[in-house]
Amino acid sequence: MRPKPNPKNFGAKIPVPPRWRRDVEKVLITDRQIARRIKSLARQIERDYQGRDIVVIALLNGTVLFLADLIRHLSLPLRLDFIGVSSYGTGVTSGDLVFTKELRLDVRGRDVLLGDDILDTGKTLSRVLPKIKILKPRRIRTCVLLDKPTRRMEKIVPDYVGFTIPDAFVVGYGLDFAERYRNLPFIGVLRPHIYHELREGAGLIHGA
Ligand code: IMP
Ligand code: MG
Repeated sequence: MRPKPNPKNFGAKIPVPPRWRRDVEKVLITDRQIARRIKSLARQIERDYQGRDIVVIALLNGTVLFLADLIRHLSLPLRLDFIGVSSYGTGVTSGDLVFTKELRLDVRGRDVLLGDDILDTGKTLSRVLPKIKILKPRRIRTCVLLDKPTRRMEKIVPDYVGFTIPDAFVVGYGLDFAERYRNLPFIGVLRPHIYHELREGAGLIHGA
C-alpha cells in the first residue's frame, strides 16, 4: 500500500493545450497519466478490500472527478457518500473549516475508504477523520490523488496516494483556485497573474 513512485516523465515539458495557455503555466500530470495511475490504484484497493462491502466517502468538492473515475474501476460491492468541507481562505491557503454536508450512510462496522483530492497541511483530514471514527466503522483507510508531503503540519499518513508532488499550488481534475479550473482534464500550475486577478474578485468561502 505504499505510494508508488511518480511517473518517469513527471515534470517533463508537456505542452499546455492551446485553450488553457492563457491561464496555465505548465502541465504537471497529464490526463493519460492520471487515468493510468487511477487504474492501478483501483487494482490495489480491490485486492485490499477483497470480500468486503465498503463505504466510499468523498470529500466535496475537489474529489468529484477523481472518485468518479476511481470507483468505476472498483469491482467491489460499495456504497458512496459525501462529506462537504469548505475553508474560509484566500484560495491558496487553508482557513477555518466549515462542514457543508454531513454523512448520510451508516458506517458502523463497515470498511470506509475516505477519498480526498490533495493532502497538503493535513488539517482537513485531521478534522474529518475523528468525525468518521466516532461513528464506529470497522476500519478507515484514506486515499488521496495528490500528496504534498513537504507542507504537512498534522501527522497524517495516507494509505493510498496517486502522485506525490512538489510544493506548488495545482489546479485541474477537480482541484480549484477560487472555485475555478476544476474542469481541466489534467493537473497544472497556474500563471502567477491569474492569482492576482482572481483573488481580487474571489468570494470568501472556498470549496475544498
Ligand atoms: P489541507 O487541509 O492543507 O491538507 O488541504 C486540503 C485541501 O486544501 C484540499 O482538499 C484542497 O481543497 C486544498 N488544497 C491544498 N493544496 C491545494 C492545491 O495545490 N490546489 C488546490 N487545492 C489545494
Ligand atoms: Mg479547494
